[in-house]
Amino acid sequence: MIKLRYIIALLLSIIIVASCDNRHLETEEQEAIMQDGEFEGLGEGRSGMIKLAIEVRNHIITAIRIISQSESKFAQPAEQQIIDAVLQKQTVEGIDAISGATLTSRGMLTAIGMAIDASKGVWKEEAEYTDTTCDIVVIGAGGAGMAAAIQAASMGANVIVLEKQGIIGGNTNYATGGLNAAETSVQKSQGIQDSKKSHFDDTMVGGYRLNDSSLVATLVEKAPDAVDWLISFGADMSNVGKLAGSSQKRTHRPEGGAAVGPHIMAVLSRAVQEKNITVRTRNKVTSLISDNGKVTGVNVETANGQYRIEAKAVIIATGGFGANLTMVENYRPQFKGFNTSNHNGATGDAFKWVSSLNVPLVDIDQIQIHPTGEKGSHILITEAVRGNGAILVNRQGVRFANEMLTRDKLSDAILGQTGKSVFIVFDQSVRESLAAIENYSQQGLMVTANTTTQLAQALGIPEGAFVETMDKYGKWQASGIDGEFGRKGEEMPRPLNQPPYYAIEVEPVLHHTMGGIKINSNAEVVDSNGKAIEGLYAAGEVTGGVHGGNRLGGNAVADIIVYGRIAGTSAAESVLK
Ligand code: FUM
Repeated sequence: MIKLRYIIALLLSIIIVASCDNRHLETEEQEAIMQDGEFEGLGEGRSGMIKLAIEVRNHIITAIRIISQSESKFAQPAEQQIIDAVLQKQTVEGIDAISGATLTSRGMLTAIGMAIDASKGVWKEEAEYTDTTCDIVVIGAGGAGMAAAIQAASMGANVIVLEKQGIIGGNTNYATGGLNAAETSVQKSQGIQDSKKSHFDDTMVGGYRLNDSSLVATLVEKAPDAVDWLISFGADMSNVGKLAGSSQKRTHRPEGGAAVGPHIMAVLSRAVQEKNITVRTRNKVTSLISDNGKVTGVNVETANGQYRIEAKAVIIATGGFGANLTMVENYRPQFKGFNTSNHNGATGDAFKWVSSLNVPLVDIDQIQIHPTGEKGSHILITEAVRGNGAILVNRQGVRFANEMLTRDKLSDAILGQTGKSVFIVFDQSVRESLAAIENYSQQGLMVTANTTTQLAQALGIPEGAFVETMDKYGKWQASGIDGEFGRKGEEMPRPLNQPPYYAIEVEPVLHHTMGGIKINSNAEVVDSNGKAIEGLYAAGEVTGGVHGGNRLGGNAVADIIVYGRIAGTSAAESVLK
């Protein structure tokens, strides 16, 4: 069987190589053939991230090696079964989870699928790199970096994107809730009344007015255009919901409420390929090169040695430091021991690169906890579940807060409950309103019951109190007034009376680091005198000032696209003039 696949793959590859340069294959061709080499993938298992590598020889997966994981030893037979099945079928399609190890299986399949995608040439890794030059180096291949690269390349700049991880996407791979923008073409087509002013005010209030108001003004001004820009590359931003702290429905995501981040990354990755932008994974920047205060390139480390790129401009888009628990604890000792929703590359490396350039780190101790991470894991239960109607119930079977409070306040409320974790509870109507929930179901996270009494029994909470809580909530919802906690009428879109009923145990997790490198509205990095540093730009979570003391859900994806594009534009304008 494998031999037959090998022969077919080889024939196909000969045809393709004969017809064009192998490094510039058309998208479909790249999707058809796995290139030889070793490729990494990442997936969420039961107890954390599973990182693995597939080895591809002659376009066939010949080995799958787990690099790191936290699954229990009881999951190992299931992992081996998944590996055997993939080696046999040469795809993850149609391979079922192993009974009794659903989450581990899903994590393995996600990671292998990601590695297979990598092998198909979406991003490249070469055996050896040598010193080179280009117009613009973008550091980080998450949403901000990819947006910056696409923007700069569209303007004619020659761009190289460097990514230290084996995969592209960073935290954007995990973004679920959506992208906040007001006065968008999508809102208008759906009759949603909103204003940039309201988006501005909500962002400033949510951030305790610690935000840099000029950065926020630019964010809200350019966010609608960011939505259209993504749509122009084929993104689906047609589902508009409401997240905590937003006065209106302005959180844009794909139809049915599917997770926004993987979709955006797929769209940006395709655009990067179409523009022939070079993306080098497992290329770790170790320092910036500067000359008399002007940034002129980067030093890079790979498994096979070091090299340097001389560039006319450098854009830092490396993300935050939410996976650097030492750094988090240093700034906020009270967060010691919290799980994180961040991918493990979010370690804040860029801060040391800019220290010699006299660049201030703005609001660096402002670290956001997200109220609803699945208990004991890294999986985030998106705020959109609450936005679409879910409630939170404690071990006494009662609600304890307005579920649409901003993240910091709601997290505090949860931490005040017995066990410091609670249950997010919803019904079939909420499930049907949000496709992202299907991921939680597939990962085996949801407790399911046909009645509220049975759900209480399954959760081990008092039946009487819980049934009363659900009935009472239904009445508040019908009246449009939450007489207990003040949740607004439009924030209670569903009465939660359609079985089956579902619950997931949740606890606060480290989510977003609001502080970082100081920039101005042109995404230029500025020094402590407010002077722009020549040749240096930054965008996304690595920067500080946009979100102040607390980021609103949906504003991170707006931030990465808006400021990614601005950084790309500013850098391209400066190098091409
Ligand atoms: O809950 C969420 O979906 C998170 C969204 C965000 O951080 O923007």
